[in-house]
Amino acid sequence: MVLSFGIAVLAAFAVHIEAAAQSPLPDTPQVEARVNALLSKLTLDEKIDLLSGVNKFYIRSMPSIGLPALRMSDGPMGVREWGHSTAYPGGSALAATWDPAFARQMGASIGRDARARGVSFLLAPGVNIYRAPVSGRSFEYLGEDPVLAAQIAVGFIDGVQEQGVIATVKHFAANNEEYNRVEVSSDLDQRTLHELYLPAFEAAVREAHVGAVMDGYNPVNGIHPTENAALNCAILEKQWGFRGIVMSDWGAVHHAVAAANSCLDLEMPSGEYLNRNNLLPAIRAGKVSVAIIDDKVRRILREAVEFGLFDRPQPAPNRNLDNETDRKVALQGALEGAVLLKNQDNLLPLEASKTKVLAVIGPNATPAVYAGGGSSNVTPYAAVSVLSGLTDYLAGKAEVEYDRGLPDLTALSKATEYTFDGKPGVQLQLFANANFQGTPFRTLMVPNIDPGSMAAILKQDGTLLAGIQAMRFTANYKPHSAGAYLFLTSGGGSQAYASGQDKYTLTVNGNRIVSQAPFEQQAPLATYRDLPAAEPLAIQFDYVPMSDRAYPRLAISATADLVSQRAREIAAKADAVVVAVGFDPSTEREGMDRSFNLPYGQEVLIRAIARINPKTIVVLNGGAGIDMHGWVTTVPAILDQWYPGQEGGRALAQLLFGEYDPEGKLPMTFDRTWDESPVRHSYYAKPRAIGKDAKEPTFTYNMAGAMLTGRMDRGVNYTEGLLNGYRYYAGSKEKPLFPFGFGLSYTAFAFGHLHVGSVNSNGLDISADITNTGKREGAEVLELYLGLPSRHVPMPERELKGFQKVRLAPGQIAHVTLHVDRRDLSYYNVPSQSWKLDTGEVRVYVGDSASDTSLTGSFKLQ
Ligand code: BGC
Repeated sequence: MVLSFGIAVLAAFAVHIEAAAQSPLPDTPQVEARVNALLSKLTLDEKIDLLSGVNKFYIRSMPSIGLPALRMSDGPMGVREWGHSTAYPGGSALAATWDPAFARQMGASIGRDARARGVSFLLAPGVNIYRAPVSGRSFEYLGEDPVLAAQIAVGFIDGVQEQGVIATVKHFAANNEEYNRVEVSSDLDQRTLHELYLPAFEAAVREAHVGAVMDGYNPVNGIHPTENAALNCAILEKQWGFRGIVMSDWGAVHHAVAAANSCLDLEMPSGEYLNRNNLLPAIRAGKVSVAIIDDKVRRILREAVEFGLFDRPQPAPNRNLDNETDRKVALQGALEGAVLLKNQDNLLPLEASKTKVLAVIGPNATPAVYAGGGSSNVTPYAAVSVLSGLTDYLAGKAEVEYDRGLPDLTALSKATEYTFDGKPGVQLQLFANANFQGTPFRTLMVPNIDPGSMAAILKQDGTLLAGIQAMRFTANYKPHSAGAYLFLTSGGGSQAYASGQDKYTLTVNGNRIVSQAPFEQQAPLATYRDLPAAEPLAIQFDYVPMSDRAYPRLAISATADLVSQRAREIAAKADAVVVAVGFDPSTEREGMDRSFNLPYGQEVLIRAIARINPKTIVVLNGGAGIDMHGWVTTVPAILDQWYPGQEGGRALAQLLFGEYDPEGKLPMTFDRTWDESPVRHSYYAKPRAIGKDAKEPTFTYNMAGAMLTGRMDRGVNYTEGLLNGYRYYAGSKEKPLFPFGFGLSYTAFAFGHLHVGSVNSNGLDISADITNTGKREGAEVLELYLGLPSRHVPMPERELKGFQKVRLAPGQIAHVTLHVDRRDLSYYNVPSQSWKLDTGEVRVYVGDSASDTSLTGSFKLQ
């Protein structure tokens, strides 16, 4: 049987979607008349009051016009703020489904959850384009390609808004890194901005009619988004015709008049700047016009009218807060989003009948790692871990043995043995200045360098005794044997990450080996050194707390000691081993960047277990690329689950045992090493020499293994331009570890019958067949790339222009037609600020990853 997919079929599909629950009203003259009538009843004071939030997550009520308080909530993975809620897969998992229809279903579920909690604004989706694996929030976003991100975002927003909830697309714009996120300016040329970093926002506005846009923290070309008229007024409102609300990220406003005149409508979470004290005098002085204030208020009222917020209570009745429908959607996302990266000799799927003992090892096996950290992190009613998913699945059929495999941070720092002056322990000196100058005002001994050792210098409430500006830990550490050693530093307390802006340096035998800059939040840093046996090392750990709390930590361990004995034993006796590793909310989160390498010890664990048991399957958590070059060849199977949401463990069992065929495809390129990444020279701000210390390294920052010294510049120059991700690799000799769009299946597919239609004023149709040539049902994605002519401007070798996922039984064929419109064939012409079509030959590539396109063709643009 031949299935047909394409524009006609997609249109029919739309009709079958469940009748919309509370679709917003269209933007009509009637709506505008009502908005104007409401506006006319407000005093200037009341209007100004509407321009800022209150109580963290509300627009305030305005009883004089019957406006209720409008509640907001994060975010992309579920409804965060108002109690427990279903936790759905993260953005990279959602994008890995390559399934906009599923995105719509997930959006609808979250929209219903929001209504059940009385939420009117959902602060999602996040659509910032992926540049580098180290960026801490990639897990919330939708990958590296604007076409994929746009289609997933549109699906999600449609789903949310059909439930009567306003979606908020964020963070406008070019918010592509987390370290020092409020300061670092994304400096990029207009063509790159328009072709890569804006299209997902544009589609949210033009196709999905999103109700709100959130301006990001980072300056763009030197100007904060909340006062960036070029972005908010010229592009968003004028070019794209956005009629909704431009809100600030939380605390992202820096100037009242500049923000007011740059099309920012709503300051969140409260009116630090957009308040009566600032705006009334500015209006009187003629710096801000009443017309501008009215426009902002109109936008807020317009969304409230269109979404029915004046006319019905927002909490939807008859909605169970925790229900089977949503759990199924979360499960479906975890199933569809998981990407099978490697499956040597078809080790997977495992056969339950042949698996008598399964070993489950690794820090990510339990508790469930369903999400990264920060404002997207939802508290679910229950989350299924890798361990419980597999144990439940195998109950009564096989034995499951578990071990964490690696010590946790606290165990590791407590177990590190130091001496000072021949006695066990560490000398701690306290300074009344932050530069370690002069004599310490107090010196004491502590057992080790761990938050638990701080008791003697804390007040009862857990804060530091007054006057402590800097702490110096001094000790000797004696390696018990020659070999590789881990030095693990962190500023975190019960959480692994540092929540303040603490800075620290670690010096070993007088050489500085780690320096942490005082950024907003910080991941633990793992540094490895080869040490000779039994040479005592002189350790100095200098820690400068930036608040009245401090959680300094240093752990040192031979890497040979990291993997537990029990993990080795259960691996040896098992029929197969699942090693569950990767990042978690403490190592990958909003507000900080993460390492490209797996967190400490995990590579050592993978290699050790794979040596013991050749049937080792690595299951990964993480929102982005992971440096695997040191271990990828040592294991036969790798499955990336991203952050799979609360049903991750259940999905994993179904995937590993072949009840569900893996179908996820990478939404970003996985670089082999940081040195090969196209943004290796342009991700970190350049070091900046400061004052007379110009030659002295002030801070180093080494998340990607790129040791940087010196205080950093304010701006990051996107020198790679359009050549981000696969756009770079397609024209380079370097090959990524795993290409964009890649993902294995248990079945097999073949592409054939490429047909390139003729070009007319609307563009053209391109079609091809996909056949399931394997023995199992499965889904495949047809990916269409075009190489546009480079007559006037250089073009990337290929760019994704469309895709379609199809689900096929063995032997079944799908005929897929994709429409390419004129905009898809154009480039952004900077002088004319418009899209232009170039003449010449267009190359056509069809396949199932950016570097595996078995069908090729071409056509001419005249
Ligand atoms: C984040 C936003 C989030 C907001 C409210 C900010 O720190 O950047 O994504 O929506 O907080 O929680």
